Amino acid sequence: MADKPVTTSYDLPVSEPLRQLMRTGWASPDQSVNSAKAEVADFAAARRAKISAAFPGLRLVIPAGVFKVRNNDCDYRFRANTAFVHLTGMSAGDITPESVLVLNPISGGHEALLYIHLRNDRNEETFYRDRRHGEFWVGPRLSIADAEKIYGIKVCDVKELKLLLDKKVESIAMRGEDSFVDQNVAAHARENDLIIALSELRLIKDDFEIKQMRHAVDATIKGFADIVKALPQAVVHPRGERVIDAAFYGRARVEGNELGYDTIAASGAHACVLHWIRNDGVVKSGDLILVDAGVEVESHYTADITRTIPVNGKFNSAQRQIYELVLAAQSAGIAAVKPGAKYRDINNACMKVLAEGLHELGVLTISAAESLKPENGLHRRWSVHASGHMLGLDVHDCAKARSDQYLDGVLQVGEVLTVEPGLYIQPDDQLFPAEFRGIGVRIEDDILVTENGSENLSAKLPRTVSEIENWIVELQK
Ligand code: GLY
Ligand code: MN
Ligand code: MN
Repeated sequence: MADKPVTTSYDLPVSEPLRQLMRTGWASPDQSVNSAKAEVADFAAARRAKISAAFPGLRLVIPAGVFKVRNNDCDYRFRANTAFVHLTGMSAGDITPESVLVLNPISGGHEALLYIHLRNDRNEETFYRDRRHGEFWVGPRLSIADAEKIYGIKVCDVKELKLLLDKKVESIAMRGEDSFVDQNVAAHARENDLIIALSELRLIKDDFEIKQMRHAVDATIKGFADIVKALPQAVVHPRGERVIDAAFYGRARVEGNELGYDTIAASGAHACVLHWIRNDGVVKSGDLILVDAGVEVESHYTADITRTIPVNGKFNSAQRQIYELVLAAQSAGIAAVKPGAKYRDINNACMKVLAEGLHELGVLTISAAESLKPENGLHRRWSVHASGHMLGLDVHDCAKARSDQYLDGVLQVGEVLTVEPGLYIQPDDQLFPAEFRGIGVRIEDDILVTENGSENLSAKLPRTVSEIENWIVELQK
């Protein structure tokens, strides 16, 4: 925690007269409460109540995290720890680094205490000298009164956190996010239980979260339209993939907080590199371009959508064959999403269609049934990744959930997950005829498990061959 202003070697010295001048001449601070309670506040309180019930009598310390250095004295844009976001409901613009949520045990449960950096007093030198926390540098923070009103949590000065932590109560901290917390809370045998509980708490989305997911998906769909509109510029630029990347990034920043993850803009054979995020290649007419991108909105929820589209607006025959096969696999995967079904059914449904298609194409020389046996899995030469994951505040949400709740579990109403099969025929793959080499296709949508089965949240984005071809014509008119 910064007690002294964070300055650098090239900051100008401050004379005593300037120091004095900076203390005077400011209007007295507005003490009124300028904000209304946020819609998320009651949802976040209900989430905290569940964690409270799972850890009776224990103090739980959940840091928002600290700045991460990008280079020298420049930090990455701050993005708070996901568990902190989930339990406080705070939106991106309201969270400052070094904030900490404490669930402090009291009789009958826990009291939530939110420790934040307070607004700078104009008497404090940090106001204009601290490049990390001074409001002259980083902008005004929430007042205690406003933060309490908006989020419905008791708010305290982060400078007083040590006083609380020094009052020894059996405590569990989420470690590795904030060295101050790590140093001031002793290790506890149940740390991993807390991590698991916080991850599993996010499996079923509440109504606020589903609304935010819809918002993230809608912003992402707009970003995909921007991509299609940018294709003509991408084709004439030596780093056309960057033109696509930048088109989506603009939308993410305008509509949301950030990207939910680095965009994959993979043209031609780059689509066969699963995490192609260099995005520095050409975009050639006649090739496909695979774009995997998601807008993270201000509440930190992200979409995760992939479309593979023909750069010149028309799939050729080989491209279309592979695309139709992946589309059929994805449709089978989406059809497998329903409450009570096994999570693994989704992947199995996708893989069955892919294996059968690869056998029909003559490249999988054993039967699909043989290949689908776990001890074989030869079809996976062309499809090595899983066909989806949970989605929410993290693109790969709930990753610390136990396998009986997730990978080996049963689908439940309110879960949001991706279905994203793909086929990737490497450019040097001698098992496929030449016209297929270098084709990579993935189709990814965001699916909500509902009482009746599922809802494709990203259904408005064109998905079939004809829808995509017509969409490109419409947007490039
Ligand atoms: N964009 C990462 C993923 O689809 O999982
Ligand atoms: Mn994706
Ligand atoms: Mn995904």
